[in-house]
Order: sequence, then structure tokens, then C-alpha cells
Amino acid sequence: MTAQLECPRCGVSYPLSEVRYICDCGSQLDVIHDLQALQAQITRATFDARQRGVPTPDVRPEIDSGVWRYRELILPVSPEMIVSRPEGNTPLYQHPRLSDWVGVDCLLLKHEGENPSGSFKDRGMTVGVTQARWLGARAVACASTGNTSASLAAYAALAGLPAIVFIPQGKIAAGKLAQALAYGAHTLQVAGDFDDAMRLVQRICDDMGIYLLNSLNPFRLEGQKSVIFEIVHGLNWQSPDWIVLPAGNLGNTAAFGKALYELKQLELVERLPRLAAVQATGANPFYQSYRMGFRQEVRVQAETIATAIRIGAPISYERAVRSLRWTNGLVTQVSDAEIMDAKAMVDRVGIGCEPASAAAVAGVRKMVSEGIIRPDERVVAVLTGNLLKDPGATVSYHTGEWAEAHFANQPRQVSARPEEVRRVIEHIL
Ligand code: F0G
Repeated sequence: MTAQLECPRCGVSYPLSEVRYICDCGSQLDVIHDLQALQAQITRATFDARQRGVPTPDVRPEIDSGVWRYRELILPVSPEMIVSRPEGNTPLYQHPRLSDWVGVDCLLLKHEGENPSGSFKDRGMTVGVTQARWLGARAVACASTGNTSASLAAYAALAGLPAIVFIPQGKIAAGKLAQALAYGAHTLQVAGDFDDAMRLVQRICDDMGIYLLNSLNPFRLEGQKSVIFEIVHGLNWQSPDWIVLPAGNLGNTAAFGKALYELKQLELVERLPRLAAVQATGANPFYQSYRMGFRQEVRVQAETIATAIRIGAPISYERAVRSLRWTNGLVTQVSDAEIMDAKAMVDRVGIGCEPASAAAVAGVRKMVSEGIIRPDERVVAVLTGNLLKDPGATVSYHTGEWAEAHFANQPRQVSARPEEVRRVIEHIL
């Protein structure tokens, strides 16, 4: 065995060629790699040797992609099957003003918004769409708060596969809707919220034999593990003390924990960072479960400005709980006002992100103020999406529609008269 589908609850396994997301016992499946065999084959040097050079027109995913560079830990597949932009290779930024604001010596930002379609979803989608093509799927589909649909639309277009995306009507950011339409996805605006769309897409995919590419799909999570591989590799295989991420449907939380578990098993890292998942207070079912010691799965009617994580019934709950157990992790929550101020700070230093991503930065600041994170600890926050995804939220924050904005940058109305413009600029400077 190099890899197979396996149920984490009852241990039953299935071949990778079977179209299946859930075990007969009801649990979601994992892709399980033969870590013992891999340990004999791969070392840090295996990955160190695969460095991307100057981009060429012929994508060589096994070198150029920040996902497929780690292919032994992702999916055994022949290179000609791979559908890749390429993705990954995202920067790890730091900025002293931002570190000061959150209260740590050095905050590192893994900017997943600098992926081809502007979010971390591309890492999962290159693997999911590759698998769809290998299985001979006739079409692919997902429910989405926007980024998954944008990414699926792009990768399906690249592969020449029809894509059908289910989005909550009126509840996704303009940039994301524009991407789904532009890349040619059949776009169904569901009269309901994300949780309704998620239930609907599962039903339709089962009924119609369409390949489902939400994070319920275990291959998506395999690709998203590469965020962690790149962070740790980028730090010369030294784990940071904390990795902090926004949490909605919990796919990333599930993927990150699995990646860390595998790195430890393979002895590619000596110790694990702690994972901290951050939710918006109006969309906090995972936080509520955490506060109850995960004795009960909670559902809420979700509402938050960060539409990407406006999710009340997260699909990857069990696997996310497992991630936190593996990494001595925790869950925290931040208000919409804290999210938007953190976003304004990330934007103002010239880096920029969408609202959900800023929840991670707001979460770091909150955990520092509560003494959970010490100022001398090394913290990586994952910025999951690009600033340009949600122009509506950004503009409303800066133009006074957002009552609690502390860092608003109001545009000024001026006439076309040079003397007036000069006066205004002199006043500014
Ligand atoms: N940040 C952004 C920008 C997202 O788009 C999402 C999820 C998350 C964080 C949360 O990640 O679901 O793995 O916990 N967006 C999904 C979508 C749900 O449909 O685009 P998660």
C-alpha cells in the first residue's frame, strides 16, 4: 500500500479509486499514507532538493507547485494527470508595526491569498480536480461561501470539466462571485445560507453521480496540508510555537492537524506547534463545542461580516477535534469589530487580506492580551484570502458605514480646482 482511504472511527479501508467520502459507519474518510514505508524513502533533503527556479511556460508541478513538491505526502499520481496552475509557494511576511500591534516580538503571516485564485483553496483544488480527472468524473460541484467556488471554477476550467457551484444567494463577496462566473462555473444561487447549500450539494452529488469537491472530500484536505509543509520547510524544519488560522467549515483545521501529525511520525520535525482555530462570535459553533470539552457538537444560525466563515454547521467537525487533540490546540473567538480592525492593520502595512483571514490576526492579539501566547513565542498566522476578494467590506469600513472602525481611511471629495486640491494636500501632510 502507498495510500488508501481509511475510516478513522472503525478502521475500514477503501481503495483510492472508489468514489466515496464517508464510511458506512458515517465517519468521514482520510487518505492514509504508509508512513513506515515513506520514512525509509524521504528525508528533509528530498524536499530541499525540489526548489523552484525561474517560471517557464511548461508547468512542472513536481517542482513548481508548492503542493506537488510534497507529493509523497499528498497523493501518489502520475505527473501527466496533475491539474496545476501551479499553486502554493506563498510568502511568509512579517512587519514590525503589525507585530507591535498584536503584541509579539515577531508575527509571521503565511499569505495564502497569494495563490492563483486568491485563497488557500487552490492547494486542495489542484488535488481534488486531479483526482476527479483520474476517476473520470463527468462534472464537479461544491457548496461555498465564495472561495471554494472560485477555486473550483478555475481548476475545472483548466481541466475542461463542467463545474456546478452552490452559493448562498446574496451572501458571498463580489470578487468571489465574479470569479465563479468568469471561470465559467454553472452558478446556482441557493435561497438559503451556506449550511443549506452544503446539505443540498451532498444530496445532488449522490443522486446525480457528480464528484463533490467540498472539504468533505479527503483529497482536498491532502492538498491543504501543504500550507503546513511549506511553513515548516520555510522555517528550516523548525516548528513555530503557534499556528493560528480562521475556522469555518473546519477543513483547514482538519488538514493542518493531519499534516503536523504526519510530519512528527516521519521525524521531519522534532516538536509540534500548537494550533489555534479562531471563529467569529456570530459564527462560533466550534468555539462553543470547545468550551464544553467537545462533549457535544453545536450548531448555530451564523452571522458575521466575514462571509467566508459564516458557517453554523461545520462539516469537518470530528477531524478538526482530532487536530486539536494532536497539537494541544485550542479555539478562540473574536468579534466582527475586532476582525475588521485587524484587517485594517494588515491592510495598512501594505500586506492586505480579506475579513475572514484577519480573524487569525485578531485571534493572536486576543490570545496575547489573555496571556495564552507569550510575546517571545514564534507565531504564524495564516492569511487565507486576498484583500481584493471582498471590496464591499473594505469600502464600508473606510467610508463610515462601519460604526466601530478605529482605523478608517475616509476618501475626500474635492473640486477640480488646483488651489483647493493644494490646500487639502497641505492639510494632509
Ligand atoms: N478563510 C477563508 C478566506 C475562507 O474562504 C474559508 C472557508 C475559511 C477561512 C475557513 O476555512 O472552512 O477550512 O474552516 N471558505 C469556504 C468556502 C467554506 O466555501 O470558500 P475552513
